[in-house]
Amino acid sequence: MVSFPDLEKLRSELLSRIEAARDLVALEQVRIAALGKKGSISEQMARLGTLPPEQRRELGQATNAVKAAVSDALEARKAALEAAALDERLATERADISLPVRLGPASEGRIHPVSQVFDEVIEIFADMGFSVAEGPDIETDDLNFTKLNIPEEHPARQEHDTFYLRDGGPGDGSNRPRMLLRTHTSPVQIRTMLTQPPPIRIIAPGRVYRCDSDQTHTPMFHQIEGLIIDESTHLGHLKWCLEEFCKAFFEVEEVKMRFRASHFPFTEPSMEVDIDAAAIGKPGQWLEILGSGMVHPNVIRNCGLDPEKYQGFAFGMGLDRITMLKYGIPDLRDMFAADLRWMKHYGFLAVDVPTLAGGLSS
Ligand code: DAH
Repeated sequence: MVSFPDLEKLRSELLSRIEAARDLVALEQVRIAALGKKGSISEQMARLGTLPPEQRRELGQATNAVKAAVSDALEARKAALEAAALDERLATERADISLPVRLGPASEGRIHPVSQVFDEVIEIFADMGFSVAEGPDIETDDLNFTKLNIPEEHPARQEHDTFYLRDGGPGDGSNRPRMLLRTHTSPVQIRTMLTQPPPIRIIAPGRVYRCDSDQTHTPMFHQIEGLIIDESTHLGHLKWCLEEFCKAFFEVEEVKMRFRASHFPFTEPSMEVDIDAAAIGKPGQWLEILGSGMVHPNVIRNCGLDPEKYQGFAFGMGLDRITMLKYGIPDLRDMFAADLRWMKHYGFLAVDVPTLAGGLSS
């Protein structure tokens, strides 16, 4: 049956249940119990249909009023509970921004010192107007030696302790050139001169290989080659360029350098360069860091250029050597031992990209 007192009772009962709902789940249960398909108000509505028209209108209006009041109360309570829930979350989930940053995987990783030095060296030479050239690790005998003015019978070939590949070469009968793992980055000089018209101004950093292994030698190591070819570059430019490089690289105002007469088949005259290790806290000790010289006319001619017109300088530097010097790394072999503890100690953070403006190693 439907009656006014029943409706009034339903209304007050539902309103107090709504008021008593502690959270959104409880409130939803009240909503279903009242307005759901089998809810008490819905059932009242259904019963209205069985009443005579006169009664139906009056009780219908009254039922609708109860329904509206209950709906409004549900809405209001829902808003209040949501606001309270948000307040509570804000209170409990507060972030303490004074806590130190937790180290995530990205900051756990390290850049190898040699990779760091690659970037530093490129940054310095790029600032002087050099661009980066590349060549393959597997090179032809011709580019690694012959075109660099080191013919077949030249004693310099023995000094290089070359790793030759099994296939190719004269004895092989295949007509393929003899291949090897490049013993220095100098063949990139040849590749560049063969494909690029002067003026040329490149550096070529990369891996090189020699069959040699002891405390100060590893079968794989790194070099950076430099080459300038134009119509006017002379030895003075070479000295200036290397001095500027050393100052920038070791991040000091003055570096004492010693240019020692030497011999390389691909340069004439040739010089080896030592630096006074005062720059790295060992005054009075000379350390050899690179070979250099004016590019030999034969090399220029071998690349199809006229040595009467073109000249320039070249240098080749041991990257691992200068990395050890700069960062105080005592043993070369540790550099390639893939020891995580070593990497943690000597490595760099990926976000610390070296720039001349921001500091190379800071
Ligand atoms: N290629 C030489 C080496 O590995 C280093 C070198 C010396 C490179 C003199 C040069 C140079 O470009 O001019 O021992």
